[in-house]
Amino acid sequence: MADRPRNCGLRISRLRRIESRISEAVSRLCEARHSIRKQIVGPRRLDPTYKTALWTGTGMRESLLFLGQTFRQIRVIGTAVPSGPVVARTMAKAVGDLGPGKVILELGPGTGSFTRQLVRQYPRHRVVAIEFVEAFAKHLSKAMPTVTVVNGCASELNTHLTKLGVGPGDVGAVVSGLPFLTLPADLTPKIMNSIRTTLPVGGRFVQITFSERGWSQFPMPGFVREQSRRVWWNVPPAVVMTFTKTK
Ligand SMILES: C[S@@+](CC[C@H](N)C(=O)[O-])C[C@H]1O[C@@H](n2cnc3c(N)ncnc32)[C@H](O)[C@@H]1O
Repeated sequence: MADRPRNCGLRISRLRRIESRISEAVSRLCEARHSIRKQIVGPRRLDPTYKTALWTGTGMRESLLFLGQTFRQIRVIGTAVPSGPVVARTMAKAVGDLGPGKVILELGPGTGSFTRQLVRQYPRHRVVAIEFVEAFAKHLSKAMPTVTVVNGCASELNTHLTKLGVGPGDVGAVVSGLPFLTLPADLTPKIMNSIRTTLPVGGRFVQITFSERGWSQFPMPGFVREQSRRVWWNVPPAVVMTFTKTK
């Protein structure tokens, strides 16, 4: 028993060493990629606001930030890599038509894969993103200044929106990357309830999942499920589920 804390400490420090080695390797890869690219096509001007990614749709540095946070709190983040651009486009497209002035509410934006697409596909609509992890919220505010970022929990949507002066009737759609399958069991119904009370009738709730079967354990009273779309071109392959609020 006496050895336990020491062993745990050792394991954590080993994990940290592995994490910092991965960070170094990714940084080196990033630099090498830049210099090769410069030699082949010359310096490329990046989109200064959204730091458009060259390969994956989520920059190398964002992937690194994501991985670092996953090491710290796997159950909150739920996966080791941010969603790719194909699934991000599918999520944004699933939002559909929005009335004028409607707000898009994003839950669990992480490093902003979906946020970037929402801003691109709905340039006339305000995007409000609720992110629990401070490092992600800070990163998003800096990288996407047109997005309203709140560092807080998705179970308290009413409080966050009231502070921002956004009424429940103003929300047009909720887009979620929340890892419901790994979140604490008592938090899930609170978040679901929060979404239900925030979204007006007819509003859409778009959710990504890596396991449709796992998702079927969550009852969604007041919502009707529409057609799902499977996206194979993602790590891991994902399903985009769309629900419409009916009452
Ligand atoms: C699987 S990641 C998705 C990130 C991003 N949407 C993507 O697809 O790359 C889940 C995100 O939900 C956030 N999250 C987890 N619990 C949350 C909560 N209660 N409220 C707000 N965000 C939360 C995590 O911090 C993380 O950024």
